[in-house]
Amino acid sequence: MSIQQQLHDSQKTTLDSLRFPELLFVEDQLHEILNKADGLIQKTCVTLLKSGGKRVRPLLTLYSGMCFGPLNSLMIKASVSAEMIHMASLIHDDIIDKSETRRGKPTINSIYGDHAAILTGDYLFAEAFNILSTEQLLKTMRFFIEAIQSMCAGEVNQAAAQFSDTIEKEQYFKRIAQKTGILLAACCQSGALLADAGAEEIEAFREFGLNIGYAYQITDDILDLSGSTESLGKPVGSDLLNGNITLPLIYLMDNPVYGNWLREILISHKINCQGLHSIYEALISSRSLEKAQLTATQCIDKAKACLGKIPASPYRTALINLSDSILLRTS
Ligand code: IPE
Ligand code: IPE
Ligand code: MG
Ligand code: MG
Ligand code: MG
Repeated sequence: MSIQQQLHDSQKTTLDSLRFPELLFVEDQLHEILNKADGLIQKTCVTLLKSGGKRVRPLLTLYSGMCFGPLNSLMIKASVSAEMIHMASLIHDDIIDKSETRRGKPTINSIYGDHAAILTGDYLFAEAFNILSTEQLLKTMRFFIEAIQSMCAGEVNQAAAQFSDTIEKEQYFKRIAQKTGILLAACCQSGALLADAGAEEIEAFREFGLNIGYAYQITDDILDLSGSTESLGKPVGSDLLNGNITLPLIYLMDNPVYGNWLREILISHKINCQGLHSIYEALISSRSLEKAQLTATQCIDKAKACLGKIPASPYRTALINLSDSILLRTS
């Protein structure tokens, strides 16, 4: 499929691609590879690809690399693998969270069932490692292996703490690093590595990725409580309905007025739409949502400080702008 056809097919991709022209190479390869998949897997993967997505992981990989050297084909391969790993994790996440919509479209599990969705996710993981092994990107592979293993651990830890009324901020931070931060860090590390950055610089990019990862998941968790289904393209309120206790809730639990009230609701395991609404009101009046937003801002400040020692360049500026945009995202 031509790049023009792809741009025509997906308005969201068009907007991203116009802002970040290097992404076109990644889009092209993603389409080419996934179009070669078999039957239902081809259909589901290409549909998910066309439904948009912000392509944050490829952007991080490319711009981290371009801080140290010109764009090269290995950075593109690593970006393609990163997006495939991300897609796989979204497909599996929607099974775990029983979500019916993703990127504004019905999820694979909701149309074809969990069985097809599990296997589609597995296929994408395998394809990502097919690319990395063909290109002999062993160190990049190790970063992504760590990220996938962490995601598994994070999801298992989250499931074990459903409806917990004792979860602490430290536990939440560990979980969101596992679920989200380590993959973003792996993208930044891989990009830098593939541009021949030094060990210290790669380490600084890991820290950068981890910190934007914290902010990314905190913002996602805030949006699950206060965003709109229409702009998010995925269900809102589902974290709480599934008993997933996120940062705004942890802050609310610390509140002297609402803390015990919230604990009783959590212990009962009974949260319906009415309950969700009362919790939302409490989150607003106790300023717990605001507090979580402030925490995300602090993570972004920390992330940007990690880039302090890297020479100024348009790509460092792009990474700084990308970091700031995380706090403002609505989708
Ligand atoms: C959603 O990721 C899952 C999280 C880690 C929060 P994104 O918000 O990056 O999803 P897309 O790719 O843009 O749809
Ligand atoms: C992100 O958590 C999970 C992944 C690492 C894929 P969520 O469950 O909050 O992601 P969304 O909100 O469904 O995208
Ligand atoms: Mg989910
Ligand atoms: Mg989830
Ligand atoms: Mg979420």
